[in-house]
Amino acid sequence: MAERTFVMVKPDGVGRRLIADIIGRFEKRGLKLVGLKMQVMTEALAGEHYAEHAERPFFPDLISFITSGPTVQMVWEGNEAVSVVRAMNGATNSLEAAQGTIRGDFGLSMQNNVVHASDSVDTAKREIALYFNENEVLDYGMPDEQWLS
Ligand code: CMP
Repeated sequence: MAERTFVMVKPDGVGRRLIADIIGRFEKRGLKLVGLKMQVMTEALAGEHYAEHAERPFFPDLISFITSGPTVQMVWEGNEAVSVVRAMNGATNSLEAAQGTIRGDFGLSMQNNVVHASDSVDTAKREIALYFNENEVLDYGMPDEQWLS
């Protein structure tokens, strides 16, 4: 099966009407959308998602920001999906993100950095399972897949 990664449009990305731009970039690159939903995250879910940062000084602000409005959860599939998506998102700090990346084109902030994506295949499995039931991640074919790997 092709590699899968988890991507989330954060409340700033939703609030700035960037959902379609973000989805369009991944689609045009040749990745396949296999899971999609939106929700206002609870503090409990946000705490679980960002558990590795629980002791960091920015953690309270991060939880308050990520629960402040709607977020969009997605699963994207494709050749080397984890590293391809991370490269397309750009550096975590939008101020340092290269032009042409999502954060470099749409952001100016470390915290409000428009998108989140898994940093490894193992993290992707954990994050996908946190937001999606197995039957919510679809397995389907695309006519042009032969050109993309
Ligand atoms: P994300 O990729 O979602 O993973 C953790 C998030 O914490 C990160 O994007 C940033 O939004 C935020 N973050 C990471 N480091 C800092 C920091 N030093 N100050 C504030 N926010 C941070």
